[in-house]
Amino acid sequence: MTSEHVVLASPLDLFQFSTRLYQLGVMIGAKSVFEMGSAIGYSTIWWARAVGDQGVIYTDGDPKNSAEARRYFDRAEVSGRITGKNGDALELLSEQKQEFDITFNDVDKEHYI
Ligand SMILES: C[S@@+](CC[C@H](N)C(=O)[O-])C[C@H]1O[C@@H](n2cnc3c(N)ncnc32)[C@H](O)[C@@H]1O
Repeated sequence: MTSEHVVLASPLDLFQFSTRLYQLGVMIGAKSVFEMGSAIGYSTIWWARAVGDQGVIYTDGDPKNSAEARRYFDRAEVSGRITGKNGDALELLSEQKQEFDITFNDVDKEHYI
């Protein structure tokens, strides 16, 4: 692990955890986030609030999650900031040409601390 990697592992509840993601995004002035495993988009909304226009890529392997997430993005008025992708997050990441200020891995539970 290098200083460029941050591992968030704590007993915080979901709201506290997600607002930490928001704070992290704002603190480093992040403009782009690639989220691996976004489910129904709760954390995605907080990333979108932090980074602004078209800054977040949502990924999930389950299309039902994506459909539900899209409804929440509309309700939270952040749809314009998020690009949704279905499929394996690692494969989708490997297809990206750009660099990201933050890559948030929420699929690989085996390597969580
Ligand atoms: C813990 S949930 C994500 C929660 C979300 N990041 C949040 O905080 O609101 C993990 C999600 O990862 C998705 N997932 C698991 N393996 C995946 C993979 N290889 N590629 C894409 N999505 C995956 C699951 O469908 C599930 O919705």
